[in-house]
Amino acid sequence: MSDLFLQMNNITKRFPGVVALSNVGFTLRRGEVHALLGENGAGKSTLMKILSGVYQPDEGEILFEGRSVTFASPLEAQLLGITIIHQEFNLFPDLTVEENIFIGREFCKKNNRWQLDAKTQRQKVQTILDTLNLKIKPETRVADLTVAQQQMVEIAKAISVNAKILIMDEPTAALTESEIDSLFNVTRLLKQQGTGIVYISHRLEELALIADRATVMRDGQFIGTVDYETVQISDLIAMMVGRKLGDIYPRRPPFTGRDAVLEVKNLTRKDVLHDIHFSLYRGEILGLSGLMGAGRTELARALFGADKIDGGEIKLHGKAVAISSVHQAIEQGIGYLTEDRKKEGLALGLSVELNIMLGNYPEYSDAFGIVKEKRCQQTSEQLVNALRIKTPHLQQPALHLSGGNQQKIIIARWVCKDTDILIFDEPTRGIDVGAKLEIYELMNRLVAKGKSIIMISSELPEILGMCDRILVMRNGRITGELDNATATQENIMKYATLED
Ligand SMILES: Nc1ncnc2c1ncn2[C@@H]1O[C@H](COP(=O)(O)OP(=O)(O)OP(=O)(O)O)[C@@H](O)[C@H]1O
Ligand SMILES: [Mg+2]
Repeated sequence: MSDLFLQMNNITKRFPGVVALSNVGFTLRRGEVHALLGENGAGKSTLMKILSGVYQPDEGEILFEGRSVTFASPLEAQLLGITIIHQEFNLFPDLTVEENIFIGREFCKKNNRWQLDAKTQRQKVQTILDTLNLKIKPETRVADLTVAQQQMVEIAKAISVNAKILIMDEPTAALTESEIDSLFNVTRLLKQQGTGIVYISHRLEELALIADRATVMRDGQFIGTVDYETVQISDLIAMMVGRKLGDIYPRRPPFTGRDAVLEVKNLTRKDVLHDIHFSLYRGEILGLSGLMGAGRTELARALFGADKIDGGEIKLHGKAVAISSVHQAIEQGIGYLTEDRKKEGLALGLSVELNIMLGNYPEYSDAFGIVKEKRCQQTSEQLVNALRIKTPHLQQPALHLSGGNQQKIIIARWVCKDTDILIFDEPTRGIDVGAKLEIYELMNRLVAKGKSIIMISSELPEILGMCDRILVMRNGRITGELDNATATQENIMKYATLED
């Protein structure tokens, strides 16, 4: 048998108002890592949902190990050895790590299949966690884990079944460098064992480390399949967006402002934040860098009134303020785009328009509290266009948008709110290169209008490319401050890993 063991031919899939896939072809070899690339909404997840039995194609065929196959459900695909780690998590928050990994496939005693063989199962879980270098306890509730740890549990779950094909839909979007390393090690191991791996990611540099081939899609169409070793990243981008992109970090004039909009002194939260001291100026993009767990999100949450603080002073426009709730923070002019947009952001059942306008209705109502529908519609339409949110119309439920486009909705919501200070926590995670550029341009327009932005990002090139000043955090403290002219990846990392 040839090493080409999967072939998807002429796959077409329509949803109401959208042709998600049109005549797409895809092949996979044994023991290869095949990257699937394309802009948000290109059809990557849909193609893989078809391969894993979540959706059925309207047209086309799937040949697996030489036979034509159809899957009526994900279970049928799984029985043939096809496993997927979805872009959206599928964990049960109230169950433990172990229960999530083995749900429906619990280890039972040899002599009594109704009795759980707890010891063997625990050993098995521990082995998987060790392979992934994952330092969490099998008995921890998933709800108590960070987003990154939850992602690793998804991965643990997928590798616990010996898959012939493993599909990973943006597995690293929420991971730290060291977690990505462990994931790549496991990927190489699976590759050696002959597993075919489909890997969806927007991080092209990272793919160079593991991908053998790449298939690029655009607007539901197949664009091409190339060898990763020989292709130039700029060519891949051109295939994805259909044009050559200019400078990915659009330039701004050097920042000279000294009009402090936010001053933070001695901010402390027991065991989490220590003696935080900094200012944010009008028209500035201030970067917040550091490793995962350094306290960046915790600082954002404290400023936003989401977590109580134990001490310190916050001044807005020179006046001391007490921010003890999210509501107060917004009233005082602080907006926060959270990193966990699924949990804290989107109402999946509601339309694109409602999701953008959510929380913005007071400003869009007349004196009698009646919502100005026309204005809401105009505003959301403008934002949908400005951010190129891919949706057939404004009334589409957010649920039906691709992952990256769902994120853009939340960005649109905060832009619409028009607060003076915006905290963006990983704003471009999971977002394609073209859309990244749009978000950067939008940030530049906001600061040009006199807004101030705090940007938390784990991507150093992005921090370096976009920020006027950079604060580096470690263990809940600010360990360094760098300005745009002198910052480098090396000196950021130095402050991020500084010993206490
Ligand atoms: N269940 C659905 N109902 C209606 N439209 C859908 C549904 N699922 C996907 N779509 C649409 O199909 C298109 C392709 O979506 P898909 O999720 O495959 O994109 P993607 O390439 O994975 O994007 P991203 O990088 O943002 O995750 C999009 O326009 C999306 O809105
Ligand atoms: Mg997707």
